[in-house]
Amino acid sequence: MSSILSIRNLRGGYSEVDILNGLDLDLAPAEILVVAGTNGAGKSTLAKAVLGLLPRLSGTVSLAGDDITRLPVEARARAGIGYVPQVSNVFPSLSITENLAVVEGVTGQKARIEEMFVLFPALAARRRSRAGSLSGGERQQLAFARALMTRPRVVVLDEPTAALSPALVEESFARIASLAATGAAVLLIEQRARQALAIAHRGAILDGGRVAMSGSAETLLADDRAAALYLGQQH
Ligand SMILES: Nc1ncnc2c1ncn2[C@@H]1O[C@H](COP(=O)(O)OP(=O)(O)O)[C@@H](O)[C@H]1O
Ligand SMILES: [Mg+2]
Repeated sequence: MSSILSIRNLRGGYSEVDILNGLDLDLAPAEILVVAGTNGAGKSTLAKAVLGLLPRLSGTVSLAGDDITRLPVEARARAGIGYVPQVSNVFPSLSITENLAVVEGVTGQKARIEEMFVLFPALAARRRSRAGSLSGGERQQLAFARALMTRPRVVVLDEPTAALSPALVEESFARIASLAATGAAVLLIEQRARQALAIAHRGAILDGGRVAMSGSAETLLADDRAAALYLGQQH
């Protein structure tokens, strides 16, 4: 597999205590990898390590073969690491177009904004509306569009469905699938592991800051031990 994101022997944490304990992961272009695991397993800490927000880190994070482990957060964003936050950080008093226009460092911004409107027709229809007037689902679309403005090669999502009503969860997973279809690799951290694996190619289950189990989405969904320990009740 030719990886776009490659993580090797990742260790680190917030103080002298290691939260990540030798973690390895690979992600191919256009691939969706679900990262599951119980509360406190280190999922959000992994996201921070990839984004460049973890205070102490050893091992390597490589993007398309380049070692980015020591790059600060802005440089990683420029290199192609995108992030969709759980609570959509849109600017409520700005219009949809303005929310897209304030994304920094995008060349050919006007054209790029129009591309986002093709991807998200619901946003195009309301382009002059204030972001504060959008529904939860529309706000999440705007957060996705903001993340995609910079053409990220890897998109990290940390529990994107956590704050959504059940009706919006399926819609959100469909949007994540279409995100990968644009060629971006998706690192999807999810509590709703079964639902997430249904749209994913592979899954990794974290326990104690390392990968306890990994495999294709089908394999994990069919695995009794994964089901019993990590995936929760089947609905
Ligand atoms: N900002 C922080 N400072 C210190 N410890 C933290 C911080 N964030 C998380 N932790 C600790 O790191 C461990 C893993 O947390 P986290 O990565 O948030 O787990 P998950 O996202 O899988 O629920 C937990 O023991 C948690 O208490
Ligand atoms: Mg978390």
